[in-house]
Amino acid sequence: MVENKYSDIEGIRKKWDEHAKRYDKWYETFEGAVEHYVDWEILKGYLPQNRDAKILDAAGGTGRITLPLAKMGYSVTLCDISPEMLNVAKQKLLRERVLDKVEIMECDVCKLRFADESFDFVLCWDGMIEAAKELIRVTKKGGRISIFLMNKFGAAISKFRKDPDSALDLLRTEPSYISHDEEKHRAVSVEEARRLFETERVRVIDIYAVCGWLDVFNIPKKILESREWDEKLFKQVTEMVLRLSKEPSVKGMSRHLVLYGERI
Ligand SMILES: C[S@@+](CC[C@H](N)C(=O)[O-])C[C@H]1O[C@@H](n2cnc3c(N)ncnc32)[C@H](O)[C@@H]1O
Repeated sequence: MVENKYSDIEGIRKKWDEHAKRYDKWYETFEGAVEHYVDWEILKGYLPQNRDAKILDAAGGTGRITLPLAKMGYSVTLCDISPEMLNVAKQKLLRERVLDKVEIMECDVCKLRFADESFDFVLCWDGMIEAAKELIRVTKKGGRISIFLMNKFGAAISKFRKDPDSALDLLRTEPSYISHDEEKHRAVSVEEARRLFETERVRVIDIYAVCGWLDVFNIPKKILESREWDEKLFKQVTEMVLRLSKEPSVKGMSRHLVLYGERI
């Protein structure tokens, strides 16, 4: 499995602290709302039936997913490296009167301070395969895991217009890494992801193409960035993305994948 090495954890914390107040704003745009809708539609199908289940939202940021989970009655542990992202989450949970359902903790997902097999469901939506070992360790046997991964093919396609050399490097080198600001994460293909998790006691249930690929539909930037939209278009786009997200022949086009698995 991939080693959990970081070049600049302080830099990552600072970057997200500075971004905290703006983070949720993007989800108010057409593009952000489509992404959130699709993320949630897929996640819903995997949540534990039992509302007493313990869920870890690792690198959960401003609680985009923790908040609806807490409203559904789950007990959630929200952890993140950025105190400012967590602070935004805390204010939202307070406003919605569900703070008592959530434990908030500042920590690095690669060094989780939980005992083995602590959670029924573990999600980490930050494209960080480096944290996988730790995330698997804290998932109960029979529990589920959901992790965002950088998809090397989708990333190469989207990079090519601006920087053909580094786009090609992603495909030429093995393993390949994507650098963005202070962060550098390993990018994988759908099949590599499947293999990596299956060698770590995870039965892969499915892998979806989830975000960063609205470019392929050629929707004008003005619409993608707009905060008001035509509901019919929203429904058409979300249905399109959901249908394609499950289609093996096109999964490689999206910049991110989300893997769902069961800890065995
Ligand atoms: C793109 S945001 C995603 C937030 C949330 N998962 C969501 O889907 O809305 C990335 C988050 O990962 C956090 N993060 C980055 N590296 C981390 C690390 N090593 N440990 C814990 N959190 C980390 C950042 O602080 C930020 O809140």
